[in-house]
Amino acid sequence: MNRPSKIPRHVTLIMDGNGRWAASRGKERVFGHFEGVESVRAVMEASVEWGIEYVSFFAFSEENWKRPVAEVTTLMDLMGKAMEAEFPTFQAHSVRFMVLGDRERLSGKLNSTIDRIMQATAANTGLTMILFLSYSGKWDILQASRKLALDLINNPTLGISEETFARYLVTDGIPDPDLMIRTSGEKRISNYMLWQNAYTEFVFTDVMWPDFRKEAFFRAIEEYASRDRRFGNVK
Ligand code: IPE
Ligand code: IPE
Ligand code: MG
Repeated sequence: MNRPSKIPRHVTLIMDGNGRWAASRGKERVFGHFEGVESVRAVMEASVEWGIEYVSFFAFSEENWKRPVAEVTTLMDLMGKAMEAEFPTFQAHSVRFMVLGDRERLSGKLNSTIDRIMQATAANTGLTMILFLSYSGKWDILQASRKLALDLINNPTLGISEETFARYLVTDGIPDPDLMIRTSGEKRISNYMLWQNAYTEFVFTDVMWPDFRKEAFFRAIEEYASRDRRFGNVK
């Protein structure tokens, strides 16, 4: 497979449809989550191969805490294990790994795994791979507002410009997504990176996340490549 004709700097993926994928095979929802990890690996490998700078995944939303405890526990457990399993690959390809979201809601065990892998890969210079965990766009805007409000008391000259505000979001230093891909046929943003997705190109595919592999990823990027990004301007 060739390299897509135009490479976005930052691709983000809303991984959706694991439960339906499993149900359509007469299996438990978690089976879809297990298979979905293979898709994350496939997208990561293709991103390394194609020289994408940033790839991010919406892995668990603030709203997903509402799911049955058993599913949440399995998902969290799976995430910790997948990170451990991928650590050698991160190092082999100089992948910088990050987790962004409300870390306070994660278990101590998962947080220590995340800290260890983030620290060990912090200086890597290849692909930056981000997992959005216990994240929501509104949460991000609120946590940024709270921190900025406190800093403004001590330093009123800071002001509230777009640039200043963006520095308080958890994505500080990371370019806004150029392309957002959502699988499973749902056409909504589900409270994901509301600020950062302001000018992102959206590609929606009916493919369920466990089936989303290199081929489907390639096609989504090709659709992005055909888009005309005007940013409000005229040609
Ligand atoms: C995506 O698949 C994984 C997470 C949101 C954690 P879902 O679990 O949402 O699967 P569906 O949408 O119910 O099929
Ligand atoms: C969005 O998927 C969140 C993640 C992929 C982590 P959901 O399956 O939770 O979204 P809704 O509930 O269908 O909007
Ligand atoms: Mg879903």
